[in-house]
Amino acid sequence: MEFEDTVNQRHSIRNYSDKKVDPDIIRKIVEIAQKSPSWVDSQPTKVYVAKGKALDNIRTAYQKNDQAKIKSQPDLPVMHREDWNERTQENMQQWRHEIVHHFDDFDQAHTQMTGASVNLYHAPVILFITIPKNSSQWSIFDAGLFSQTLMLAAKNEGLDTIPNYTSVRFPDVVRKEISIPDDETLVVGVALGYASDQTINSFESSRKPVADILKSDN
Ligand SMILES: Cc1cc2nc3c(=O)[nH]c(=O)nc-3n(C[C@H](O)[C@H](O)[C@H](O)COP(=O)(O)O)c2cc1C
Repeated sequence: MEFEDTVNQRHSIRNYSDKKVDPDIIRKIVEIAQKSPSWVDSQPTKVYVAKGKALDNIRTAYQKNDQAKIKSQPDLPVMHREDWNERTQENMQQWRHEIVHHFDDFDQAHTQMTGASVNLYHAPVILFITIPKNSSQWSIFDAGLFSQTLMLAAKNEGLDTIPNYTSVRFPDVVRKEISIPDDETLVVGVALGYASDQTINSFESSRKPVADILKSDN
């Protein structure tokens, strides 16, 4: 695929079909993601594959936690929406507005969005991205670069993804099913698979005009 096509065709997929993911493809896209730059070549990122029974168990445990109204305990802190700067809050508001308008009715939007997170997108695979606990904040940046390359490599192989906070809300649950050492921080989950035909998947969020973010005085 041409580079720009790959970039343009990637968008977050929030509901997956049952089609399984070939482990060789996972290996291939992780190897491509390893080409990402990192601070002093520290290569802090690790990838843990959750699928099958282990992923089903994670899903069930998350649902139980939510039913019991247990508060999320992510390894990385989450900032309350109202504490973000105004421009960022506006972007988030716009995104919510767009996603509801993508559907004919609010109830359908609500059902599919809630269903997406409750079921961890029905993804056949979630790749859990970690960095060492004992690392610089720059390692989070490195993990971001790695994750984006990973998602583009996946798209290039015809696979869909969504980077998500949803699947890292309860690190203890993930650690119980997947052997992630205690000295690693769970940064993000990247759901991986093939898009279903749910309406939610045809939603593509807009971007601000480039002039809003590209500043050049000369
Ligand atoms: C670190 C990170 C965490 C995210 N967590 C979630 C999430 O928990 N739920 C969700 O629906 N989308 C999540 N997203 C996806 C964003 O909403 C999405 O990337 C953004 O709206 C832009 O849309 P696009 O990915 O389709 O281009 C996350 C994205 C990032 C980068």
